[in-house]
Amino acid sequence: MAASRTTSDDDVDGDGAGAGGTAAWELLLPSTAAPARSRGRALQGALRDAVRSGRLAPGTQLPSSRELAADLRVSRGLVTDAYAQLTAEGYLSGRQGSGTWVTSACAGPVAPAPGPFAADDRGGPADFRPGLPDLSLFPRAAWSAAHRRVLTRLPHRAFGYPDPRGLPELRAALTDLLARRRGVAVEPDRVVVCSGVAQAHTLIGLVLRDRGERRVAVEDPGSPEHTALFAAAGLEAVPVPVDCDGLDPAALAATGVRAAVVTPAHQFPSGVAYTARRRGELADWARESGGLLIEDDYDGDFRYDRAPVGALQGLAPGRVAYTGSVSKSLAPGLRLGWLVAPAELAAEVAARKRTMDLGNAVTEQAVLAEFISGGHYDRQLRRCQRLYRIRRNTLAEALERHFPGSQVSGIAAGLHVIAALPARYGPEPRFLAAAAAAGVAVRPLSDYTVRGGGAEDGQVRLVMGYAHLSPADIERSVALLARGF
Ligand SMILES: Cc1ncc(COP(=O)(O)O)c(C=O)c1O
Repeated sequence: MAASRTTSDDDVDGDGAGAGGTAAWELLLPSTAAPARSRGRALQGALRDAVRSGRLAPGTQLPSSRELAADLRVSRGLVTDAYAQLTAEGYLSGRQGSGTWVTSACAGPVAPAPGPFAADDRGGPADFRPGLPDLSLFPRAAWSAAHRRVLTRLPHRAFGYPDPRGLPELRAALTDLLARRRGVAVEPDRVVVCSGVAQAHTLIGLVLRDRGERRVAVEDPGSPEHTALFAAAGLEAVPVPVDCDGLDPAALAATGVRAAVVTPAHQFPSGVAYTARRRGELADWARESGGLLIEDDYDGDFRYDRAPVGALQGLAPGRVAYTGSVSKSLAPGLRLGWLVAPAELAAEVAARKRTMDLGNAVTEQAVLAEFISGGHYDRQLRRCQRLYRIRRNTLAEALERHFPGSQVSGIAAGLHVIAALPARYGPEPRFLAAAAAAGVAVRPLSDYTVRGGGAEDGQVRLVMGYAHLSPADIERSVALLARGF
C-alpha cells in the first residue's frame, strides 16, 4: 500500500515520516502541480486513478479533508469537493465526522503478478484447482504463543544479520524433523533455510549454472513452476516422461542431462508414488553419471492409507538435493522452507543464499524452531491429516455417485487426486466449458503435460485439490459439476 492514514502507533517517533506521512500523499496525489484552475479536477482524477489501480486499497481510511489539504497545500474546499464527487461515484464512502474510506466494490482488480507461485484467486468454495492447504487450519494460537516466547527470549544480538544458512536452532530442529519424519540423511551444516521450495530450486539452479550446466530434466506431466523457476536461473527444462512407477530412468539417461527434478512422494500432478525399484534406479543413475536429483518433497508430510515412504534423498544423500517447505503443512504465506544440499554443493548454495538475501527473517525462523521442538508441528500434521483424509474420501465418493465409472487415483498421499471421468463426459473442452458455466474451477491434467497428451482418448482427467474445501463444499461442487450432464 502506498499510503494509508498515519496513526500515532505507527509513527512512534512523531516525525511524520510514517506510511501516511506528507510525502506519501504528495506522491500519490500530486494535484498541486496542476495549474490553479484545474487543480480540483486533477485531484479528483488522481484520487480516482489511485483507487482504480489499487494503489489505494479497499478499506483504506483517507486523511481528514483538513489534513489532506494541508499535506497537498491546496484549499480544504478542493478536498471536500473531491471526496464528495468520489463518494457520489462510489469510490469512497463515509459520513461527515466518521472518516472517509475507499470502498471495496469499486477498487479495480489489483492484478497479481503472473508467474510461479504467484498469489491468485484460488481457494473459493467451488474451486478444485490444486495447491492450497486449508488456510483456516493455520494454528494461530500456538504460533502466536511461540512468537511471544521467542520475542521474550531472544537476546538483542539475535536481531543482527543472521547466518545466511539459517538460525542454528532451526537447522537443528529441521535436522531432527526431516530424519524422523522423512528419513532424510542430514546434518545441520547441510541445511539451508530458505523461503520455500521455490527459492530452494532457484538456489540450486544458480549453483548448477555457475558450474556450467545449461539444462535440467523435469517431470512430464509436471509442475510448470519447476520449468519456470529453473528457466529464471538460466537452465532449460527438458521434459522426461513419468510412468506409473515414476520418472523414466532410460528416457532420463537418453537426454544426457546431469540434473533432474523429481517429486517421488506424490508425483505432481499425477499422484504416482515412485516405487522402491524406480527410486533405486534413479539413485543408480545419479551415482553412475555423477548427476544430481533435486527432490521436491512438497506434500510429503501427508500420507493416508499406508506407512510413510521416506525421501529418496535417504538412498543417495551425496547425489540428492532435498527441498521442502511449510507451504502445505502450515501456510504458503509464511514463505519458509529448507534445502538439504549434498556435501559437495553445500558451501556454494550457502554463498548463493547470502548474496540473494542475507538469510531469512530471524523471528519467523526462531518461531518455527520453537514450534517444531515444542511438538506443535507434529500435532498440526496429525490434525490436518485427519481432516484431509475425510475430505479426500468425500471427494472420491461424490465423484463415484455423480460421475459413475470414474477412476480416482493418487489418493494415498498429498492434497490432490487425479479423477479420470468416463469418455461420455468428454471431450475435455466440452467438459471444461460446462464446468466454467457451472461456476466450478477445475484444472485438467493436460495443462501439466508438455507432450499435450492425455485427452486424446476422450477421457477427461482432472487434477483435483480437496484439502482447502469443506466436505459440504466438495459435495455441493461435485453435484454442481454433474448438473451440466
Ligand atoms: C510441485 C510443487 N512444489 C512445491 C510447491 C511449493 O512451493 P513453495 O514451498 O515455494 O511454496 C508447490 C506449490 O504449490 C508445488 O506445486
